[in-house]
Amino acid sequence: MEKKKVLGLSFGRKNSNTDVMVKTVLMDCEKQGHEVQFLHVDSMDIKPCTGCISCVVGMTTGRGKGGCPIKDDFHILDEALMECDALVVGCPAYETSPTGRFKTVCDRIGPSHDITFRKATYEEGLAAGKDPADLPDVRSFKKRVGALISVGGAMTKNWMAFMLPVMYEITMSMGIDVIDMHEYYGAMGCEHVLGNAPQMERMHLMGENVAAALAAETEEERTKWRGTEQGICPVCHCNFLSFSEDRSVVECPVCGIEASIKMVDGKIQADFSEAQQNRSRLRWAGKLEHSTEIKTQAVGPGQIPNLKELLEPYKNYPAK
Ligand SMILES: Cc1cc2nc3c(=O)[nH]c(=O)nc-3n(C[C@H](O)[C@H](O)[C@H](O)COP(=O)(O)O)c2cc1C
Repeated sequence: MEKKKVLGLSFGRKNSNTDVMVKTVLMDCEKQGHEVQFLHVDSMDIKPCTGCISCVVGMTTGRGKGGCPIKDDFHILDEALMECDALVVGCPAYETSPTGRFKTVCDRIGPSHDITFRKATYEEGLAAGKDPADLPDVRSFKKRVGALISVGGAMTKNWMAFMLPVMYEITMSMGIDVIDMHEYYGAMGCEHVLGNAPQMERMHLMGENVAAALAAETEEERTKWRGTEQGICPVCHCNFLSFSEDRSVVECPVCGIEASIKMVDGKIQADFSEAQQNRSRLRWAGKLEHSTEIKTQAVGPGQIPNLKELLEPYKNYPAK
């Protein structure tokens, strides 16, 4: 069996529930012969994205390779991400959603790591005879699998309502195929997850699932959904839908794709066509749709002749 690299990221307290759950998955992958790396992300200095968009502008103009000018520990995480074949991410619920640090990391990963931006820049650069060292990291295009662990203290599951849908942000831009995810709710009802046998068993199952995906010989087997719940969306497997303004269709907000719904035997059924599934932003075609609209429709400076003048009252508006 080929030895692969599994990276575990925890956004929880040191050695608390999330940490231990992520580490359990890693330990099982290690037992299967894989190399593992664990990062306690809250111990790292990772600054928020400033919105300068130099990462994307650099790639779309062919002058950059998706780098970020902020100097902090992100390069450690970036190198670990580039090296890994599987990513296991655990995050606690804070105010029904992943933590602020989690979002900070997601903003720093995407759009700078969007595989469609990186691939186009890489291929155009090679065709132009550029040195590969000046192009996006070739490891960006490695096929990876992912697993998500969401941990909430509240006894009511809906206090984690936005967890798994938002956690997809960490895998989305790099095109990591999530093959399993788990939600542990009611964590405050148990001193530590180590005293919760069913939760620990579920983490062992996740370890097995990640190892099985890494050992897969076909693309179908590699990306096969291995979670214990199917969810309503066949692409992200989340149970999260929004309604179109005219209420004619529903949309999966994670994937950005539409479905028709109907009641079958008293249960809601959402039908996502193959075409819609393929334009999910978790898949290449959906990502390409997005990077193409940015490339072709985003405008540069100098379009509004009197912008400087228009901005004047806002610049001097006091921030009290
Ligand atoms: C600021 C804050 C907000 C929280 N909000 C929620 C919440 O909305 N839903 C929930 O289920 N738990 C909530 N919790 C509880 C944590 O999810 C819980 O303590 C979890 O076990 C933390 O993970 P850890 O033990 O790995 O650090 C909150 C905790 C904190 C500190």
